[in-house]
Amino acid sequence: MRLTAHAKINWALNVLGRRADGYHELDMLVQRVALADSLEFEPDDGLRLEVAGSDAPTDGRNLAYRAAAALRAACGVQAGALIRLTKRIPSQAGLGGGSADAAATLQGLNALWGCGLDQQQLAGIGLGLGADVPLCLQPGLMRAQGIGEHLSPLPGGRALDLVIVQPLEGLSTPAVFQAFALHKPERMADIQAGMALLQAGGGMDFGPLFNQLQPAAQALLPVIDTAQQALLANGAVFAQMSGSGSAVYGVFENARKAGQAQAALAADWPVCIQTKTIES
Ligand code: C5P
Repeated sequence: MRLTAHAKINWALNVLGRRADGYHELDMLVQRVALADSLEFEPDDGLRLEVAGSDAPTDGRNLAYRAAAALRAACGVQAGALIRLTKRIPSQAGLGGGSADAAATLQGLNALWGCGLDQQQLAGIGLGLGADVPLCLQPGLMRAQGIGEHLSPLPGGRALDLVIVQPLEGLSTPAVFQAFALHKPERMADIQAGMALLQAGGGMDFGPLFNQLQPAAQALLPVIDTAQQALLANGAVFAQMSGSGSAVYGVFENARKAGQAQAALAADWPVCIQTKTIES
């Protein structure tokens, strides 16, 4: 069995507060994108992970492996599996690559092992693996609240043309949240207006959208701002960092303009990917 594990971008990210356990309450608008890793699952005696396209670990340091182990434990499964993961989503990018792999592993092995868990049960296991795993079980455009577990699917999300650029250095999520305490912007995303904009097909005024983690990430990695400016200079109608970074996406009016920008930017930015959001 083969599944694709799609990356996500954050259209909006507000940090509402910090919980006693250190996690932050968020209010986000998220959309899945066509860029995806792929995973193949087949029966095996033990639990094995093979990774192509990246030097990511193949043991418990990999979220896909941890997802398989968690599902196995939750369902009391004796069988094993071989998971072949082909990476295309850059890591430490804020694109949810590891979370998407974990979500697809839960879905794939739920089917392979006949566990019979529903979406909500898989999301419960997923949340124990990482805050972004539950949203990676959902397609299209959505609002994510709490630490990422309260999900509202938003119909009407469009397929918009994107170019994603990642500075060579990635960023660790905990480091960015730590820096947020010192770099909290006054500006917030207007979530209601953002939802209306993204659902209604209402023009290209991206003004309501904002990522409150970007100033903190930029303090750690100033080249994020350079990437954003480069996308805008090459025709993006809007550009912003995704999640906790370090990837920055630009929105283009059509695939041709996105393709031209990708070709121009690829000379300076080794990680430069043309893709589009997935409609809902
Ligand atoms: O859940 P995940 O492993 O993706 O989170 C990594 C780290 O990011 C957490 O340990 C925490 O420091 C930070 N985080 C947070 N608030 C969130 C999500 C992540 O503070 N909602």
